[in-house]
Amino acid sequence: MKVFITGGSGFVGSHLADRLLGRGDQVLVIDNYETGRRDNLRARDGLEVVEGSITDGELVRTLTGDFRPDLVVHAAASYKDPDAWESDVLTNALGTALVAQAAKDAGCERLIYFQTALCYGTNPTEQPVTLGHHLDPDSSYAISKTAGELYLRLSGLDWVSFRLANAYGPRNISGPLPTFFSRLTNEQPCFVMDTRRDFVFIDDMIDAVEMAIDGKGHGTYHLSSGGDVSIKELFDATVGAMGVKMDGPVEVRPRGEDDAFTILLDPSRTRDDFDGWTPATPLTAGVAAAVAYYREFGIEQTFTHLHLPDEDTH
Ligand SMILES: NC(=O)c1ccc[n+]([C@@H]2O[C@H](COP(=O)([O-])OP(=O)(O)OC[C@H]3O[C@@H](n4cnc5c(N)ncnc54)[C@H](O)[C@@H]3O)[C@@H](O)[C@H]2O)c1
Repeated sequence: MKVFITGGSGFVGSHLADRLLGRGDQVLVIDNYETGRRDNLRARDGLEVVEGSITDGELVRTLTGDFRPDLVVHAAASYKDPDAWESDVLTNALGTALVAQAAKDAGCERLIYFQTALCYGTNPTEQPVTLGHHLDPDSSYAISKTAGELYLRLSGLDWVSFRLANAYGPRNISGPLPTFFSRLTNEQPCFVMDTRRDFVFIDDMIDAVEMAIDGKGHGTYHLSSGGDVSIKELFDATVGAMGVKMDGPVEVRPRGEDDAFTILLDPSRTRDDFDGWTPATPLTAGVAAAVAYYREFGIEQTFTHLHLPDEDTH
């Protein structure tokens, strides 16, 4: 199979590329390294990596026209600065529109997308949130990602949009876990927000994406466990995996205004359409794998799409 992965040098994209290359598929990646890392993808047969932006319509059309993918997995996204509206709109809205149109023009019929659970807003009206919940994005990242999803619907392509809870694991550089690792390593003070999240280990997530690549599913799905854990539990798992000795319990701080208390998504449609898929990796094992990665490869930068309560955060 020939698969074009946008953002393929990022966390999700590179794990997916590894999985597909491992089974003999051909993979073409485009990435501008805005948040991705070159060492996420090792050069090997079957893999071509192009440095460039999905906002460059001509480049995207040339790549898809030459490669003629059977399928596009669109994992590129802009999110690293909550005030960088222009970058978010260009990559997440325009870029998605360009990728979808180029895929269609190249004769590709199916596209897989990743949507943020923040498409439901910071305060969803139900927990767990069902797929029928109204869309209410209230950040630049969520608004532009939602625009991208709507362009997919408009495209006439056969599409799957995985609305994700929090994916974590090796190569993950956004969210609390890499921040905890950095600060604990540097013996800096830590605190945790009084929030809860539904964490899905990357290998479990890729299992579902692989099924979608092989034809399962159509439309929107929640990639989530359906249960949540507190950020404090995540912190404690990180401390445990690192073998750090703490003087006392970590400080718990109230959440920022643009932060959701919990993001709990109802995964029942995913279970139904994806052979009973459910995340199987326990939090402690997943955190240990992430910590082993951070120890070996280091963390160059961490990113968040949130306005943080102060500079000295997490
Ligand atoms: N990781 C999560 O928990 C999570 C949650 C919700 C949604 N998502 C979505 O999943 C997808 C993958 O996210 P991720 O966690 O792997 O993030 P990531 O930052 O690791 O990967 C995104 C990749 O896109 C690349 N990129 C950014 N702008 C680009 C552009 N204009 N052209 C080409 N490449 C560009 C980045 O360099 C990076 O390699 C994204 O669409 C994101 O919105 C992720």
